[in-house]
Amino acid sequence: MRILITAGPTREPIDPVRFIGNRSSGKMGYALAEASIEAGHEVILISGPVALTPPEKAEIIQVETALQMFEAVRDSINECDVAIFAAAVGDYRVESFSDSKMKKTGRTVTLTLVENPDILGSARGGFGFAGYLVGFAAETENVETNASEKLARKGCDLLIANDVSRKEIGFDSEQNEVTVFLKDRSPHSFPQESKKEVAKKLIDLIERSASV
Ligand code: C5P
Repeated sequence: MRILITAGPTREPIDPVRFIGNRSSGKMGYALAEASIEAGHEVILISGPVALTPPEKAEIIQVETALQMFEAVRDSINECDVAIFAAAVGDYRVESFSDSKMKKTGRTVTLTLVENPDILGSARGGFGFAGYLVGFAAETENVETNASEKLARKGCDLLIANDVSRKEIGFDSEQNEVTVFLKDRSPHSFPQESKKEVAKKLIDLIERSASV
């Protein structure tokens, strides 16, 4: 199969030297890319700025902002059989980017933020993607309720939820513990393991579910 994977954080620029970012390391998305390649699939990895080396055989598209990620996904999703959205996309961007470095003024500064497009939420209706769609839900509370709601709202076939309020499995950790939500089936929890092991099991599950 040809698998599109989004990974890492996005950066929303404020001025030439500052940005709004988030704590995503990209480890889960990169582990999924590696596991997909090891299982013999082709991978398009659309990645925000991370400190990781992409798997050699992946086609890598580097982006910074949510809007760039949106465009990259829009342009390649329909070449793929499966799309996995593991990126932590910034929900907001600064309305007006300052071309020069903002100086200290001694006063309070207000930044106006505008909403970014929901890339995963655009896959079905916006981009017309008809393949197997996988989303992530990084939650800090009500994991089950939020995840089931997100599965339906974003048109996913599979939603992978994890509780990022737990340090040992949250952003930037080596380990993960996920619960998977499939359409019309009861949720299933995987044990806490390295992100590499979790990725292998997820790719195995996706292979079985996507080819039904
Ligand atoms: O709504 P929420 O951000 O919790 O949804 C998480 C899922 O949606 C993840 O799969 C994430 O990659 C994706 N997402 C996206 N574009 C956004 C926000 C989230 O693709 N702007």
